[in-house]
Amino acid sequence: MHNAKIIGTGHYVPENIVTNDDMAKIIETSDEWISTRTGIKERRISTGENTSDMAAKAALKAIEDAKISVEDIDFIFLATYSPDAFIPNTACIVQSLIGAVNATCFDLSAACTGFIYGLDMATQYIKTGRAKCVLVIGAETQSKLLNWDDRGTCVLFGDGAGAAIMTTGEEAGVLACYSGSDGTKSWTLTVEGVPVRNPFVEGNPGSMYDLQNSTIKMDGKEIFKFAVGIMIKSVDELLKISGLNIEDIKYVVPHQANYRIIESTAKRLGLDIGKFFINIDRYGNTSAASVAIALDELAKSGNLEKGDKVLMVGFGGGLTYGGVIVEW
Ligand code: COA
Repeated sequence: MHNAKIIGTGHYVPENIVTNDDMAKIIETSDEWISTRTGIKERRISTGENTSDMAAKAALKAIEDAKISVEDIDFIFLATYSPDAFIPNTACIVQSLIGAVNATCFDLSAACTGFIYGLDMATQYIKTGRAKCVLVIGAETQSKLLNWDDRGTCVLFGDGAGAAIMTTGEEAGVLACYSGSDGTKSWTLTVEGVPVRNPFVEGNPGSMYDLQNSTIKMDGKEIFKFAVGIMIKSVDELLKISGLNIEDIKYVVPHQANYRIIESTAKRLGLDIGKFFINIDRYGNTSAASVAIALDELAKSGNLEKGDKVLMVGFGGGLTYGGVIVEW
């Protein structure tokens, strides 16, 4: 078995900053409501860049950070629920944008837990020798899936991308991976897909379809209840798997869905909120990109030293959840 290690990170967000006051010009809301309920002050919204564009920019930064050649990459796992298209997969588009000619590329769909699932998969591919160098990306253009008339959802989400390069390492890098799903709660966060419509369906509705209704619908309260409990369970499981104590963890990088979820998790774990890396105020919830962007910002902050242990943890539509502990 080989060790798997993160050797570089990068992120990219659109330049267009949309503040809570800007949102209040579009729908009936206020900076006060959004800030106190969620911790969000502003988010980045694409003015035309699609998921692959942002993903490629984040990937190039991670490649530069890792000091590898783009030809070294043998797999690209791209986590998103807002791909450019059904076919080709967005990972293949990124491959062509960055010139990763030796990579096998595919997307994975696990909503906000996508980047964590991707790190887990890359770890297993590297451990078994199937891969030597994996580019893991979390990227979303959620703005194209939002119902901009629904104030209960459109204020929460943002666009962006984050990436990590994983390779085999001399020392241990990834110390633990944990994941799970609860499909019985799939109704709590949805974006409808294409219904079955073909000449063999009763009434012969034909093959035309209308994606107008494919916007994000969410039961925020139900997810809130689920989130805190599952973050704590994931942390407990990760500590058990790694044999570490919570005191051994230098930073927690949580999914950035709501400041209050992070705060409650910290309280129930008995941890100082200062141990949690938080950037939700600047980006909102960027789904699969959320943990990836936060990890890169933490890495570039100068606060991480070699040997520090970082615990990433998240949850999302599906419902999905999980986490990873890495030694920096
Ligand atoms: N601006 C102003 N008022 C708003 C609003 C907005 N943007 N959105 C909702 N409201 C109103 C509601 O209409 C409701 O009004 P009413 O009491 O007159 O009916 C009131 O605010 C309270 O709404 P509620 O939904 O109960 O608020 P909340 O305290 O539960 O917070 C969320 C809502 C969505 C912020 C919160 O439930 C949450 O963050 N849940 C988790 C969601 C999540 O993480 N999703 C992503 C999963 S990866």
